[in-house]
Amino acid sequence: MSRIVFLNGSFLPLEEAKVPFMDRGFLFGDGVYEGVGVLEGRLVDNEAHLERLERSLREVRIPNPYSRAEWTHLEEELARRNGMTEGFIYFQVTRGVAERDFTFPENASPGVAMFTQAKPIVNAPAAATGIAVITVPDLRWKRRDIKSVNLLAQVLAKQAAKEAGAQEAWMVEDGFVTEGGSSSGFIITREGRIVVRPLSNAILPGITRKALLALSKDAGIELEERLFTVEEAYEAAEAFMTSASSFVLPIVSIDGHTIGDGRPGPITKKLREIYIRMATAPRMTAE
Ligand code: PDD
Repeated sequence: MSRIVFLNGSFLPLEEAKVPFMDRGFLFGDGVYEGVGVLEGRLVDNEAHLERLERSLREVRIPNPYSRAEWTHLEEELARRNGMTEGFIYFQVTRGVAERDFTFPENASPGVAMFTQAKPIVNAPAAATGIAVITVPDLRWKRRDIKSVNLLAQVLAKQAAKEAGAQEAWMVEDGFVTEGGSSSGFIITREGRIVVRPLSNAILPGITRKALLALSKDAGIELEERLFTVEEAYEAAEAFMTSASSFVLPIVSIDGHTIGDGRPGPITKKLREIYIRMATAPRMTAE
């Protein structure tokens, strides 16, 4: 059975889904996106993702084609049609189709594309072993708080990681880690404190990051929201990343420097467990 996707108002098999040639998402990267995890058939933290989508759209002045209830229905329907109970739902909104001209078109309606990626998240092999990370210069624009479909810098960063045998790239600006190519980056000091970069235009406000910070506070783990350098990361007791498609993933090596004893650290493991428990708790998503 082929994957069912949603494109501009219709559910259809992936092979039949053709994006219009003059879509501004294709020509200009003029669009924003979201990605939501699915666990036990339920959307994880969906309201927070829809809130961030609303914000991204507002910041780039693309009208939101759907209400939160409509988006939620589309996501759930897409997961249902694909029989997906664990994985990731991607959805993007572009400014739509118009003759190529940089300024906003007068009458375009937003383009919407959504698809599922079924994959194990809870039992992902990387969660057991931890992953390797390399650092690369952060080549991105100055509004990284907007979840824009312009991801060329991240494509290059993550390809460099792959070629170095690593699974994620941490981007670095002025000696400080900004974030991962598609994840938020954290370290844990030898005193057991979580260190994470504060929110600003320099990073995406990660939804998993936000949930994790609240959970770590409840668990009594100390937290410092501040910048950290690459050198500090090399010396950290533990490191991890968060994202909607991986939840909490341990990092066991940065630029070839072994983190801790080279295995997922105890605080990271605990945070991952707490997060998964929260994600599978009854009525975790607002429905
Ligand atoms: N990426 N930072 C960047 C640059 C990201 O692209 C992502 C997510 C995150 C984590 O945000 P969240 O916890 O809301 O997923 C941080 C998604 C998963 C992606 O592009 O596939």
